[in-house]
Amino acid sequence: MLYSLMAGGKRMRPLLVMAACEAMEGNEDAALDAACAVEMVHTYSLIHDDLPAMDNDDYRRGKLTNHKVFGEAAAILAGDALLTHAFYLVAQLSGTYGIPADKVVEITLDLSELSGPKGMVGGQAADMEGEQGLTELSQLEYIHLHKTSDLIMFSLLAGGRIAGADAARLEALRIFGRKIGLAFQIQDDILDIVGDETKLGKKTQSDIKQEKVTYPYFIGLEASKKEVERLTEEAKSAISKAGFTNPARLLEIADYLMNRDH
Ligand code: IPE
Ligand code: IPE
Ligand code: MG
Ligand code: MG
Ligand code: MG
Repeated sequence: MLYSLMAGGKRMRPLLVMAACEAMEGNEDAALDAACAVEMVHTYSLIHDDLPAMDNDDYRRGKLTNHKVFGEAAAILAGDALLTHAFYLVAQLSGTYGIPADKVVEITLDLSELSGPKGMVGGQAADMEGEQGLTELSQLEYIHLHKTSDLIMFSLLAGGRIAGADAARLEALRIFGRKIGLAFQIQDDILDIVGDETKLGKKTQSDIKQEKVTYPYFIGLEASKKEVERLTEEAKSAISKAGFTNPARLLEIADYLMNRDH
């Protein structure tokens, strides 16, 4: 569990939890625990995503993948345990930090929905089936929205809920998460083709090797880049209009992600 968790990574989802909480000046200590929880779910998804039965990748975060070092059985179990432990961290937000129990229930519901069969796992399942051949861009959008946007959306909602966001601000965070999440996965697809392996910490051309249908495959590299820019602008505008006290960091992260090379 620690090998993959501490290998590095951008910590983008935890940053989004913190930034959403900061946008409304909520309890940062509580947000940090929720941030760790989402990073555990994300890291589990990467360990499983790299397994031979899924994307069959040898490098992750600049190191050998979990199963390459510990074997498949240990890698599967490390993933299972990271997922379970994340729910433990969320469940104790009330007892440790005094976050109201109804908010903790909402965060738990969000996490189970957005990381589970209707969310990230559903997206990963569709991604695996998709290898048999996608015919429509809308099918690919479905995969990206679930395998990637949903956990990003969870991160933002968790930060917002900890800070006591009202329905309108939660909705703005939802829209922001959906759009930067989609942009993030399109950028991941682009970097799989044109990225630098040393910076990325994972092998490029993985999608081609696995015969994955991606955004660049459907609409080309240039149009994919334009789509990342368009989605980022729309995401930022949803946040700007929602009247947060301190939205600067959220907006900065959106710009940072649009220009990322790893
Ligand atoms: C990789 O996520 C998997 C995707 C959803 C594209 P990241 O690019 O956030 O990976 P780390 O956490 O920085 O390693
Ligand atoms: C992975 O997408 C998404 C999840 C792990 C939920 P990818 O398969 O494109 O991610 P990378 O490129 O291996 O990081
Ligand atoms: Mg994959
Ligand atoms: Mg993969
Ligand atoms: Mg990828």
